[in-house]
Amino acid sequence: MTHGTSGFTPTRLLFVCLGNICRSPLAEGVFLHHAHERGLASNFRVDSAGTGGWHEGELPDPRSREVAERHGVRLPGRARKVVDSDFHDFDLILAMDQDNLQTLERLREIAGGNAELRLLREFDPEAGSDLEVPDPYYGGGDGFEKVFRMVDRSARALLDSMI
Ligand code: 4NP
Repeated sequence: MTHGTSGFTPTRLLFVCLGNICRSPLAEGVFLHHAHERGLASNFRVDSAGTGGWHEGELPDPRSREVAERHGVRLPGRARKVVDSDFHDFDLILAMDQDNLQTLERLREIAGGNAELRLLREFDPEAGSDLEVPDPYYGGGDGFEKVFRMVDRSARALLDSMI
């Protein structure tokens, strides 16, 4: 939990999907929600970003906002694209699917940096062999509830793994 030279500093986590309007804002909000509930929010700095920039500056998708609200989770700010400095500024970058992860690995070859790259569902105790959070953007409404449950299980276990 310590990095840098001046004693305790928060662990920095970046959640990444394609558009940064559906999955990664949910993952960010859910992780922060659990960290707050357990009195651990000050141990972490969290953000989310997309490998694509089409939705930059937008709020999370209304369907993500609706499922979050239903579960009492506040969602963070507006969409942004992954930038080179993210690989230097975050300790752990959590991708929602293999495609996101491969894009991050390619970007990191140029950007450098020490961030660890992982799939979020590596932490999901119910994931089995499927380690992806599926993209719900073009699907029906219940896709968002399924995504919420995956992200919720993963975020709780991720938090457990870091305390
Ligand atoms: P996300 O979902 O990656 O979970 O934010 C998507 C949002 C937008 C698009 C694709 C996926 N899009 O193609 O615009």
